[in-house]
Amino acid sequence: MSSGMSQPEPNPIVACTVSRDVQNFDLLIEDMEMALGEAWGDLGFAEALAFFSQPEAESLEFIALAMDHEDEENLILMGEIITQAKASGIAVILIAEDVTPASLHQLLRKGADEFVPYPLPEQELQMAIDRLSTPEVEPATEARPSPQLKTGPSREGAVIVVHGLAGGSGSTTMAINLAWELALVDADNPPSVCLIDLDLQGGSVSTYLDLPRREFVLEMMTETETMDEDVFGQALLAFEDKLQVLTAPSDMVPLDIIDSDDVQRVIDMARSHFDYVVIDMPKTLVQWSETVLNAAHVYFAMLELDMRSAQNALRLKRALQSEDLPFEKLRFALNRAPKFTDLSGKSRVKRMGESLGISIDLQLPDGGKQVTQSADHGLPLANSAAKNPLRKEIAKLASSLHELGRSDAEAA
Ligand SMILES: Nc1ncnc2c1ncn2[C@@H]1O[C@H](COP(=O)(O)OP(=O)(O)O)[C@@H](O)[C@H]1O
Ligand SMILES: [Mg+2]
Repeated sequence: MSSGMSQPEPNPIVACTVSRDVQNFDLLIEDMEMALGEAWGDLGFAEALAFFSQPEAESLEFIALAMDHEDEENLILMGEIITQAKASGIAVILIAEDVTPASLHQLLRKGADEFVPYPLPEQELQMAIDRLSTPEVEPATEARPSPQLKTGPSREGAVIVVHGLAGGSGSTTMAINLAWELALVDADNPPSVCLIDLDLQGGSVSTYLDLPRREFVLEMMTETETMDEDVFGQALLAFEDKLQVLTAPSDMVPLDIIDSDDVQRVIDMARSHFDYVVIDMPKTLVQWSETVLNAAHVYFAMLELDMRSAQNALRLKRALQSEDLPFEKLRFALNRAPKFTDLSGKSRVKRMGESLGISIDLQLPDGGKQVTQSADHGLPLANSAAKNPLRKEIAKLASSLHELGRSDAEAA
């Protein structure tokens, strides 16, 4: 006997996936079905924003906002979706594939409740959903766990880049000694430091620290899609147990053998495991320079008081500005700077800065023969010529960078 009397209520939708295209996240589809049967829908980014204010959205308990690397360009939109969802009393589970820690951090700060990496680990979505619905028994004393930490040890290392504007302007010397001074900066609580030689061809970090160049580096750098922390760790070499070094590959390779994604992944990986990531860059601009520039917290451009440096500084400035890249991130550092007493030298520095329209923020003294000798012995200056004026200046720089980072961390 059929009657039209008891039409079952259509299942209210209790959750939605929100993504560029949910088909990119087929494991999420499976897990949503497993957890919710039919009681969920899928929305695009723009649709989601429109939907939150509709009456049908009232039954919505959470959204699973799924994003990958490409969506990072739309971080503002994603942030807005989170804000609006939260304002409508809807919880947000962030599902992220290949998204940088910086972006994740930003989205979690917008109020995303849970973070699950994609591909989804077994049961992870269900567990995140369960956590959403457990009444908040947050004891006041217990800090809320940082969701990011679930995927492994997660730091947010500062990225410090050194780029010599002309060959021999001291980029590698600066990168090595700065990395080493950072490792020594606080004996009681030494920060972890990773030094990365991205000067793939000229790379002399290994020579200056007397470390072998290994074939495995190239393999790791060109297969970053499958790189995990073990693989990354294997590519590193320790200098005196205090500094981890990713040397340049053993073979002379073209600079574009790696691409922006590779570089981004390596930087992300390093950042998530070290307090400081120091990068020595090639002197030419490459396809992935922009990636490094964007990742950098501080970007030192090393120059000398000569025509070559001046011309290259100008070229770099024009190149960055024409591409709308953050030129203001550059901190110009003058190597082999004239002494205080050298008045004509000092006025030349001033004129150089003015004529290039740059401010020379840092001056490093000539350290004489000791600097090259130290490198020849495979040692940082601190270990071979601790009183060298160049060493002292770099040590000062390291401690001021460290102080800065700490006061930022306290302010946050
Ligand atoms: N401030 C300095 N005082 C003395 N020698 C220096 C100084 N900076 C660099 N050098 C020496 O100059 C040479 C080139 O430096 P390097 O760091 O290899 O430059 P880059 O990496 O920019 O090519 C090296 O022999 C190094 O020891
Ligand atoms: Mg070099």
